Amino acid sequence: MTMVMATIDVASLHTAIPHTGGIKASKVLSMKGRTLLLLLSIWILLYIARYPEKFPALKFRSVVSETTTIPIIFVITPTYARLVQKAELTRLTLAFRQVPALHWIVVEDALQKTQVVRNLLQRSGIPYTHLSIQSLKDVRKARGTLQRNLGLSWLRETFYPEDAPEGVVYFADDDNTYSLEIFEEMRYTKKVSVWPVAFVGGLRYESVKVNMEGKVAGWFVKIFPSRSFAIDMAGFAINLKLILEKRTAIFRLDVAAGYQEPSLLQDLVTMEELEPKADNCTKILVWHTKTQTPNLRNDKNFTDPNVEV
Ligand code: UGA
Ligand code: MN
Repeated sequence: MTMVMATIDVASLHTAIPHTGGIKASKVLSMKGRTLLLLLSIWILLYIARYPEKFPALKFRSVVSETTTIPIIFVITPTYARLVQKAELTRLTLAFRQVPALHWIVVEDALQKTQVVRNLLQRSGIPYTHLSIQSLKDVRKARGTLQRNLGLSWLRETFYPEDAPEGVVYFADDDNTYSLEIFEEMRYTKKVSVWPVAFVGGLRYESVKVNMEGKVAGWFVKIFPSRSFAIDMAGFAINLKLILEKRTAIFRLDVAAGYQEPSLLQDLVTMEELEPKADNCTKILVWHTKTQTPNLRNDKNFTDPNVEV
């Protein structure tokens, strides 16, 4: 993303400066003046490249220019520092970089963005936005919530509903396993699309009941089946314009575990409006996997702590 932005911005600023100053500038400005102008424009370019988050308008242009024909998939991933973080994120990059028109919004659960994640994103080859916000102390019932909401805020600050690109928003936790097919299923979501997720709620998979008319008629789950939207975070995607139009819809912190998803979805759609995907919700295309914490029983003062894992 930064790389792409840099090239686009360099090009646009280089053409912009001579056009506004034009031939007149070359006549009026002394050699010293021109040198100063050149140094100033180089400084501006370096500043933009270093702090791209301060220039959402430029980001907007580069996001749009990367793809013109197919809707962009904005994937929001909360992530936090732990032994397996780099491994998890590396696994995601291997899938995401194969998906056309995917923009990855990675939100670290941290006071400041870390070098580990920054380097990983820069090398990923995936267009991205890197953000961070630290969770409140007791986040057990709402892991990733503030991070997902920050991702939503970024989208709302970056795009106006009237001239936003066609797009879809998906919340992808960093430890799940994603097929490439799931992204093509969600790409043309009109409002909110839904599909099954494996290994959730004590089942091989949780799913969605689809009636003869192809409409969602209920939830195939064991845990809290009376929830208005009894679906895991990995089981739905939302049209970008809907997110931009319903500006107050967010994940709420003041709800019980398992009620995060309905807290957002109930402000966006009705059950009748849901679009079942993955062959009427009969195919498993995403897995709620959990990575074991590695066993370090032999590692007391053994390995080099300076080696990044
Ligand atoms: C389940 C659901 O699948 C999540 O969508 C839901 O957010 C979570 O429960 C919850 O409500 O607590 P689970 O696998 O148990 O997910 O949770 P994690 O995978 O540990 O965390 C979900 C996401 O939040 C991950 O992307 C993780 O990296 C991130 N996270 C976790 C943080 O940003 N900070 C933390 O302290 C913990
Ligand atoms: Mn998880």
